[in-house]
Amino acid sequence: MDRSLVIFVGALLTFSSSWLGLILFPYWQLQDQPPYQDTAAGGEAYPRPLAGQALAGRRVYEANGCLNCHSQQVRSQKFGNWWEDGVMRTGADIRRGWGARRTVSRDYIYDRPTMLGTLRTGPDLANVGTRYSEAWHHVHLFNPRAVNGWSIMPPAPFWYAREKVVGGQKSDRALRLGREWTVDPGYRWTPTDDEWAAVVAAHGPALRDAFAATHPGVIDLESPSGLRQLYAFWLTTEEEDYQIVPAAEADALVAYLMELRKAETPLPEAKE
Ligand code: HEC
Repeated sequence: MDRSLVIFVGALLTFSSSWLGLILFPYWQLQDQPPYQDTAAGGEAYPRPLAGQALAGRRVYEANGCLNCHSQQVRSQKFGNWWEDGVMRTGADIRRGWGARRTVSRDYIYDRPTMLGTLRTGPDLANVGTRYSEAWHHVHLFNPRAVNGWSIMPPAPFWYAREKVVGGQKSDRALRLGREWTVDPGYRWTPTDDEWAAVVAAHGPALRDAFAATHPGVIDLESPSGLRQLYAFWLTTEEEDYQIVPAAEADALVAYLMELRKAETPLPEAKE
């Protein structure tokens, strides 16, 4: 008997029902979701579409695979387990400070594509705009290990320029970062023995005074332990002649990260 028609119709029904249930029906339900506006409170509409630099920054985020390590979705109080005193609790995302509430479909109405993500090698970024300053983000993007020594996030020194300081005055936008991170962008630099000896010979006493001005205790330049202390201090001081300044991509990306504030504004449908 020729069953090809039965197989064809069966397969069609199977695939079309899942397409109807998982794609078309949710699309009909959610396609016209308007932004939320609490008129009684006179609040602004939420969410707002991205514009300008933040919009450009979203493209940098998309193009550089941030999505592969970072999600943008806060789970509700009912999900995400952890154990405390032998009792299982839920709501790990909110406890970690990733958002004040769960995220819902309305949070994403202007995101095309949405960057929900599936992997969390790094923390969730749905609400990262509320957590740090712009300056923090620049230092972290330039080299994540300058902030967290254990970070496995790739550094992005190619979004920053290492420039000679002109006229002895650093730019306001220069990263406030010790020379160990800035001499060889992307790496943690240490001087050779000869270079270090030259620094001690030329600047030893001045460095000792600079240390004393900002730290308790006095460094003894004659002792090996004092010199080790001076060495560690010198690496954390900024380079005098060079500065690291953000280029366009870094500015755009940081503008985007600062706009990620998804679970901040309350929404009636996001109860937990
Ligand atoms: C290989 C995986 C990986 C990739 C790719 C990656 N990150 Fe990360 N990211 C991490 C890890 C791990 C951390 C946590 C350690 C740290 O702070 O560096 C992190 C932390 C962060 C944080 C701080 C979050 C917080 O709450 O402390 C931000 C912001 C961030 N990443 C942005 C980005 C952006 C933007 C990109 C794309 C340019 C990116 N990451 C690409 C792994 C990654």
